[in-house]
Amino acid sequence: MNARRLPLHAICPYFAMFPESFVREYVEAYTNTGDLVFDPFCGRGTTILESLLLGRNAAGSDINPVAYCVSRAKAERPKLNSIISRLREVEKIYQNSVIVQNEKYRLLLPPFFRRAFYHTTLKELLFLRHTLDWKNNKIDRFIAALVIGSLHGEMGRSTAYFSNQMPRTICLKPNYSLQYWGKHELFPKKRRVFAMLQQKAEYRLMDIQANSKGMVRLADSRKVSSVFRSQWGKVELVITSPPYLNVTRYEEDQWLRLWFLGGPPYPTYGKISRDDRYEVANKYWKFIEDSWAGLVPLLKENAKIIVRLGAIGLNEEEMTIQFIKSVKNVFPKARLIQKPKYTEIVRRQAQSFLPSSKGCLYEIDYVLSVC
Ligand SMILES: C[S@@+](CC[C@H](N)C(=O)[O-])C[C@H]1O[C@@H](n2cnc3c(N)ncnc32)[C@H](O)[C@@H]1O
Repeated sequence: MNARRLPLHAICPYFAMFPESFVREYVEAYTNTGDLVFDPFCGRGTTILESLLLGRNAAGSDINPVAYCVSRAKAERPKLNSIISRLREVEKIYQNSVIVQNEKYRLLLPPFFRRAFYHTTLKELLFLRHTLDWKNNKIDRFIAALVIGSLHGEMGRSTAYFSNQMPRTICLKPNYSLQYWGKHELFPKKRRVFAMLQQKAEYRLMDIQANSKGMVRLADSRKVSSVFRSQWGKVELVITSPPYLNVTRYEEDQWLRLWFLGGPPYPTYGKISRDDRYEVANKYWKFIEDSWAGLVPLLKENAKIIVRLGAIGLNEEEMTIQFIKSVKNVFPKARLIQKPKYTEIVRRQAQSFLPSSKGCLYEIDYVLSVC
């Protein structure tokens, strides 16, 4: 099987995600079968899934429930037939449910929702939101991951998304979206949620072996040592990408997906964490340093750490100096074992919706040995 094109990786678009080829390169270079790979900012779970596919053990965490749901769905993949049975069961309950009740829930939502989703699509989504026990049941979690991965996207270019026109990676604010749809006279199209979810499950689980299983937890990067106590001294390799300085607010930008997972029907900031976009550089570097400190008990003596970082308002030299300082304060013997790799970022998809946004202009990859 060619892991390169595995559809499961792309189950949910995510901001600042790294490609599976990035993970594969370092897992193959620095680990052997059965070694443990860890990611304390796991996002959509690229490190975890790719490491599992390469026969390694994998664990990771993220503070955002969207990232947690998607990564854990990838780490604990249910069998396709159990997903299809569950979808049929849920659809039957939906068809027999009280129509007036579903309509009442729909009308209680802010106006954004009625312009974002066709009315029957929204009712189906609302029903799934109330019904899926994604926190406790791995089949429901996988279905929830499929839903949030399809919740918003480009309506004009694809029929794969449930919403009116929207970027795939982030959800824009309600007022901005309403203005945008009004100005461009855009209305949502009807999407058959249950049928689409079945097709998506079949596609995403194509070619996938459900044998290896990873460990994903909802946790702050600074607390991973207590959450993963059973893994102390076992991590051979860390591959990670912390939030970038000044670039995005994962909580606010993922607000619609967070709503589907049980959150409020509007964007929030600082309810999940205040740490995802420091605007003050020294606070940011303190957070990064504390995150390295959180890893210490988990690492093997000869562990390697691979980090992809970007920033707005900081040049590359400055970023490298600050990054190395943050590592050295925790691992005094740490050293770069490869020259930092600089990559320019091409214009992102979300920018076509927000023409004034500057975005992050570059990323740098660092490869370190900590002993
Ligand atoms: C650059 S993204 C990681 C993307 C990931 N490499 C991928 O391929 O999807 C950074 C992640 O850090 C998470 N994050 C922010 N603050 C955190 C914290 N205090 N603890 C753990 N995760 C945090 C964000 O929710 C986000 O998912």
